[in-house]
Amino acid sequence: MKEIFPILRDRRPMLCIETAAGPSAVVVFGASGDLTHRKLFPSLYELFSGDLISKQFYLIGCRRSPLSDLQFRRGIQDANGASGSDKWPAQSEAFLERCFYVQGDYRSAELYRLLQDRMAQLDKQFRVDGVRLFYLSVPPKVVEDIAERLAESKLACPAAPGHPQNVRLVIEKPFGRDLKSAIELDRKLHLCFQESQIYRIDHYLGKETVQNILVFRFANSLFEPLWNRNYIDHVQITIAESLGVEHRAGYYDQTGALRDMFQNHMLQMLSLVAMEPPASFAADHVRDEKAKLLRSLAPVSPNPQDMQIVRAQYGPGIINGKPAVGYRQEKGVDPQSFTETFVAARLMVDNWRWKGVPFYLRTGKRLSRKLTEIVVVFKSIPHSLFQDVGIEEMPQNVLRFQIQPQEGTFLSLQAKRPGSKICMSTLEMAVDYQKVFGVEMPEAYQRLLLDCLIGDQTLFTRQDSIIPTWELLQPIIDQWIYNREDIYIYQSGTSKIDPADKLIQKTGHYWNTI
Ligand code: BG6
Repeated sequence: MKEIFPILRDRRPMLCIETAAGPSAVVVFGASGDLTHRKLFPSLYELFSGDLISKQFYLIGCRRSPLSDLQFRRGIQDANGASGSDKWPAQSEAFLERCFYVQGDYRSAELYRLLQDRMAQLDKQFRVDGVRLFYLSVPPKVVEDIAERLAESKLACPAAPGHPQNVRLVIEKPFGRDLKSAIELDRKLHLCFQESQIYRIDHYLGKETVQNILVFRFANSLFEPLWNRNYIDHVQITIAESLGVEHRAGYYDQTGALRDMFQNHMLQMLSLVAMEPPASFAADHVRDEKAKLLRSLAPVSPNPQDMQIVRAQYGPGIINGKPAVGYRQEKGVDPQSFTETFVAARLMVDNWRWKGVPFYLRTGKRLSRKLTEIVVVFKSIPHSLFQDVGIEEMPQNVLRFQIQPQEGTFLSLQAKRPGSKICMSTLEMAVDYQKVFGVEMPEAYQRLLLDCLIGDQTLFTRQDSIIPTWELLQPIIDQWIYNREDIYIYQSGTSKIDPADKLIQKTGHYWNTI
């Protein structure tokens, strides 16, 4: 395959929309977590130093262990250094002097009293009379407790209907662990917060190429007429990781790939690819269409004979030339664990646009390499003019949105080779975002945090998109609990998972290579 690179010839027609956040206070519960240090604090710092957050700003970190403001600031500084930011020195003092620490037990009323006092004092000091963002980077069980305490303490409650929703709550996935717990979580969150105050964060929706799906589909007239069952043969969505469970065994062993990746990142990407055009780019218009699409997913048979969804777990193998242990040998994992680290499924969308078009989804850890992509395979041409010269079957056109590691959009086409009368090959038109735009892709959390602060919920999952996903997955969860031992073990470092190959081949297709 050969690549053809487009050139961004005219830099004039750049249509950019960016809004900076006004005065804001951010309170992070779970301020010791890996995610907060690697992603959250560096992203807030980038926004602050890039003038995308007002200087009327402060940040409070909150957790159980005792820490001074100074120690907390040092932790942020170290994390930012580790995240590779080169902007750190310039404005670091101004940012750090707005960072504070409050210690306490998330379940005790005392913590919320302390927070109230501290916030009252800091509101005055930094003249913050605007957004209050409570970011809950804590395990799901604790989310409900904190939301309840925030309500009781009146720190967050109530936001009167019809008034600006300045108090916001950010929560991370998993949003429940099954249908019942997801409904219960929602009930508790809504005791105090309205839906318009709740930001369910899914970092995949902040990735540039994922956001680009909407622009690609709805800002070009070329593809939308083809975007249906008449022209599209099937779609593949892959999130492959070479990393294993790393230091998150405690969480992961209770969660597995179905809840960790499939219920959220994968189904969210599917909804962006397959949803109908929204009435406008307004948050609720986009989210209406996503929810509608998720409600159109046909039930998935959990019966292993139907091969509609399969699971697997990594065993020992070789990663980057080095031996890697199997999942059950990882520190913190139950040596008898049947938790899945890989899932593949064939989903069907029961609506006019997509009837009969399979959507193949797969995600797994410890595969041969990191790759996240959406592959849209168009139907074969109806008739080959070139049969006389022996070309009976033409390769299908393939459109790829590559999300990681090299962000871009790629379209394969057949073309004549110069020279002999008829000789064809497949070319790939490549739009490599980094090469074309000449900028580093921003961290997904930057986009998402800024959106929380300015109150744009477009990229956040609404409650009515969560419930259909659990309704879809509940029969599978039940079946997998019942039939625990039926799990395939694959070698770490492989790109071929036998049950996933059988699943896709059953309907006459093949996976795009990882
Ligand atoms: C997280 C999952 O949501 O996404 C992790 O909990 C996974 O298990 C991670 O490794 C992958 O994110 P990314 O951005 O590296 O593809």
